[in-house]
Amino acid sequence: MEVTSTPAIREREAALAQRYQRSRALLQRAERVIPGGYHLSGRPLVDADTTPLYFEAGRGALISDVDGNQYIDFLMAFGAQLLGYAREEVNEAAFEQGRRGALLSLNHALHVQLVEALLPKLPGADMAAFFKTGSEATTAALRIARAYTGRRSVVRAGYHGWHDWCLPLEKWVPQELGRQVLEFNANDPDSLLRILTEHGRNVAAVILAPEMVLPFQPSLVHELQRITHQHGALFVMDEVKTGLRICPGSVCQLIDLVPDLITVSKALANGYPLALVAGSRSVMRSAAGMHYSATFHGDTMAMAACLATQRIANAEQTREHCENLGNRLIAGLNDLATELNVSAKAYGEPLGAMPFFRFTYSEPAQNELLTRLFFREALARGVLLHPRHLWFICGAHTPQHIEHTLNVCRSALTTTLALMPA
Ligand SMILES: Cc1ncc(COP(=O)(O)O)c(C=O)c1O
Repeated sequence: MEVTSTPAIREREAALAQRYQRSRALLQRAERVIPGGYHLSGRPLVDADTTPLYFEAGRGALISDVDGNQYIDFLMAFGAQLLGYAREEVNEAAFEQGRRGALLSLNHALHVQLVEALLPKLPGADMAAFFKTGSEATTAALRIARAYTGRRSVVRAGYHGWHDWCLPLEKWVPQELGRQVLEFNANDPDSLLRILTEHGRNVAAVILAPEMVLPFQPSLVHELQRITHQHGALFVMDEVKTGLRICPGSVCQLIDLVPDLITVSKALANGYPLALVAGSRSVMRSAAGMHYSATFHGDTMAMAACLATQRIANAEQTREHCENLGNRLIAGLNDLATELNVSAKAYGEPLGAMPFFRFTYSEPAQNELLTRLFFREALARGVLLHPRHLWFICGAHTPQHIEHTLNVCRSALTTTLALMPA
């Protein structure tokens, strides 16, 4: 299917462009002062003309854009809002710390209190170090693994952040990095075995984000850890997305796996920046005296926000809530695809609290066009579903939001099918 546009599609695009005029004006200003116009994660959902780019307020599960349109948000700041936007008790806890100075010289009692509070939730963890971002936590985990094993190389299988070792290794990163950062396919244990058979004596760690194993198979994750240990390397579970979000607390906990190190971030502090690497005392001791500290790591506002977030999430059973609503959304979308005779699939990536939906025709061009049309029709009806990134259910989503979203998806998909070239 070659056709990517038709008069009917262009007419619809012209109408949609009216909705996002302020967004587009901001982009034009941004292009003069921000390289490329936006940071990568701020890229347009579909394009800058027919989808919103700039938002100004969020409350609960809803956000509004600068043009005054409101959406039920299923991106939730790329998963950083576990409870929903602007949760009052979390802000209050953070602001109270802010009134006491937010970031002080040297150490603060909250640093200890935070680690003590979180360790019992992380399988096999006796010690932890805290950071601001997931990229920092995964980078620190690998540095700790190098110190512990005395080896230098690492093996990875997906996205772990923006630091040099996480990028495609062909450009921008130091030339020799590709020799020390090896890649396997998370769904193919043999690919890991091959790498470790060849390079095993140099490999300090294998790092895995559980959403890379699709469909989710606990036994496969256990198998990857077994192969890793067979070769004397540490197994790092990168639960930056899933940690403290997935029922009962992390993928590791769910599948009864004790990793050597675990990284956690997005579900910690409801929008305040915080990340953690944790592990057994014997492994984490290697981090003593290692330099990974940074000026803002000790910020206590995020820590107070984290303690409040976790207290609320436990009391309100937020993780169960997210999984249940996510599973309902997945089932509803699959029913809808069947009803409208569309080749598409909704699934948890890896589990219900992180749903996603994609078209599954054999021709990539057909899937691309359907994706472009469908997701912007959903946006035009007030539902923000990301076309390329998995979604996040939060504590503020309600069953009514899910049913409304399914109705919106029915209408968006019907319009999409009507716009598709014959
Ligand atoms: C699995 C995983 N690891 C690491 C990161 C990097 O986290 P951050 O964006 O906070 O640096 C991400 C971010 O999306 C992630 O999903």
